[in-house]
Amino acid sequence: HRHLLGIEGLTAPEIISLLDLSDGYVDLNRGSDKKKDLLVGRTVINLFFENSTRTRTSFELAAKRLGADVINMSVAWSSIKKGETLLDTAMTLNAMHPDVLVVRHPDSGAVQLLAEKVNCAVINGGDGSHEHPTQALLDALTIRRRLGTLEGLLVAICGDITHSRVARSNIHLLNTLGARVRLIAPPTLMPGKVERMGVETFHDMRKGLKGCDIVMMLRLQTERMQGSYVPSTREYYHFFGLNQDKLQAAKPNALIMHPGPMNRGVEIDSDLADDINRSVIREQVEMGVAVRMACLETLNSNLMAARLMQEQACQ
Ligand code: CP
Repeated sequence: HRHLLGIEGLTAPEIISLLDLSDGYVDLNRGSDKKKDLLVGRTVINLFFENSTRTRTSFELAAKRLGADVINMSVAWSSIKKGETLLDTAMTLNAMHPDVLVVRHPDSGAVQLLAEKVNCAVINGGDGSHEHPTQALLDALTIRRRLGTLEGLLVAICGDITHSRVARSNIHLLNTLGARVRLIAPPTLMPGKVERMGVETFHDMRKGLKGCDIVMMLRLQTERMQGSYVPSTREYYHFFGLNQDKLQAAKPNALIMHPGPMNRGVEIDSDLADDINRSVIREQVEMGVAVRMACLETLNSNLMAARLMQEQACQ
């Protein structure tokens, strides 16, 4: 693959290969010398049209640890504010010969559109409610390192499924690696016909969490709810917020996950988020750097192979 636009379409061996590569980077990142020179001479541009703490920072760290030059485009200070379009912005950056563009955009499909126009590799850092592939990979790495495998696990993804790119990428990945997925959401936040994706759906937390190995909580994406029903946070927490009582339904050692940013007291009880025995939320962040290093390495190898083939064809 030249780009990483989504988990949909990746095969199990491709996902496993990225996870295996990431494992090595976890060890590197925990050591005192965190540098490798695999991407020396390469340029990575982070182009984020939406806010980000984890994804943008970890891509920057990942690229720098591999020796690349990194530019963080601040959309707020760019010519987008003067009316330049997404594609004109992308083509302007493309003219400066970057090797990788990491793009986050509020519109589903925008990153693919951009990838079709530029010469470099493109990584989707989250597009609307469509996909967030590196989030699903880091979630999978976290689970695999804790439980050894994803095959046969029962994973509950809970909350605002309708607006969640994290949910969509995770459903594709978990299905591909043989886990079973349950979605738990109020009817207003459950997309129609989602069962076609091979998942079970629930509107009751205790019923949905029964016997689960993994409890993955999602944030209410109020920024994507313009014009539609926005639940009151108190009512939402009462029915769908994860607390000790609801968690009792899951397996006794079930892991608690959250992609962040989390809203304590809305989708998750603050003490559970910090429970060092059950919550792996900080581990997910750590795995994010390793996974992004693996993705950059893999796309760089693919890019180099494609350029070599092109050169040989021209000779
Ligand atoms: N999980 C995630 O994408 O976090 P950020 O929005 O902080 O990047």
